[in-house]
Amino acid sequence: MAPGKEELMTVTTAVTRRLGLDVPIIQAPMVGAASVEMVIAASNAGALGSFGAAYTQPDALREMIREIRAGTERPFGVNLFVPAPSAVTEAEVAKANAALAPIRAELGLPTPNALPAPAPTFADQAAVVIAERVPVFSYHFGTPEPGIVAEAKAAGLTLIGSATSAADARTLVDAGADMVIAQSTEAGGHQGTFDAWAEPPGLGLMALVPQIVDAVAVPVIAAGGIMDGRGIAACLALGAGAAQLGTAFLASPESVASDSHKRRILDGDGAETRFTRAFSGRPARGLANRFMDDIERAESILAFPYQNALTGDIRRAAAAQDQPEFQSMWAGQGVAMARALPTAELVVELNEELERKLGEIAT
Ligand SMILES: Cc1cc2nc3c(=O)[nH]c(=O)nc-3n(C[C@H](O)[C@H](O)[C@H](O)COP(=O)(O)O)c2cc1C
Repeated sequence: MAPGKEELMTVTTAVTRRLGLDVPIIQAPMVGAASVEMVIAASNAGALGSFGAAYTQPDALREMIREIRAGTERPFGVNLFVPAPSAVTEAEVAKANAALAPIRAELGLPTPNALPAPAPTFADQAAVVIAERVPVFSYHFGTPEPGIVAEAKAAGLTLIGSATSAADARTLVDAGADMVIAQSTEAGGHQGTFDAWAEPPGLGLMALVPQIVDAVAVPVIAAGGIMDGRGIAACLALGAGAAQLGTAFLASPESVASDSHKRRILDGDGAETRFTRAFSGRPARGLANRFMDDIERAESILAFPYQNALTGDIRRAAAAQDQPEFQSMWAGQGVAMARALPTAELVVELNEELERKLGEIAT
């Protein structure tokens, strides 16, 4: 049991009731940062731990789900990226590689002969999530095809889709989502905007959450720039049933973000975050660095997920060489408020802050 958990009051919302949580807090799924250990710690502390499995092969995903189950009897989530048709030509790959060549040279990397295989097939990943009866299946970038939604529902999974606009929220619910994440522009990582080529709508949390609450009849989860109990209380006041926090957990010991990423998170006072397509081909918010500037200037970014596949060797080598200028260091606008607490302690502290803030507001 997490430290201090028994002393906590419980805020009960439509989200905590439906998901069986003690606190209205979701540890965001984060590819490349949220580990199995983080998910277990968050869930055991009464929040919803979530594993970002978008780039995980189905067999490895099955193992990870079983490891999470071995570590917690509490609910947890697995998150996948819904695919959209995209293609690249050899000429585009050559141009993208030419832009990446000076960076590869600095890192001592060869230019790859072929485009590495992009992400594993969504249908195969989803089949594992459904077969393993993961309690919460969340998805980013759209809605899965109806057959997958029907199978997941028949297996008793709770489905949560990610929306950056009220229109996307309605689409998700019409397609079967049981809850919707209202992901605002402050959020770290990829914007869940459906159309990969569109610019994200850019709505702040304060404007987005109530619009989505008004647009759909299912519970709403707020995400984007939420770093402490004050922020979670604000989300509840706006009508959300829980807050999903990513950047807040990035510097925890359970986070598998690179050491240089964690350092920049914690030095983050005044750190600039911005959107870029340079790493993956889709807009994602991260700490500004040279890679973003150089690759955006070259105008040779491939479609998602091909750019992500092509830049994988660079991001891995930069992390291994402790070189922050060439890594995707995703972070939200609240980064300067990040703390390096263990995941379970952070959940407890966030909930205590929430309770205190709600008490202050009530008096
Ligand atoms: C390092 C990192 C990786 C992320 N990876 C995913 C992901 O795999 N799937 C997803 O739905 N969201 C992902 N997100 C976005 C989060 O779900 C959430 O929207 C965001 O973290 C909220 O904003 P915050 O970081 O300011 O708390 C990621 C965010 C970060 C910071």
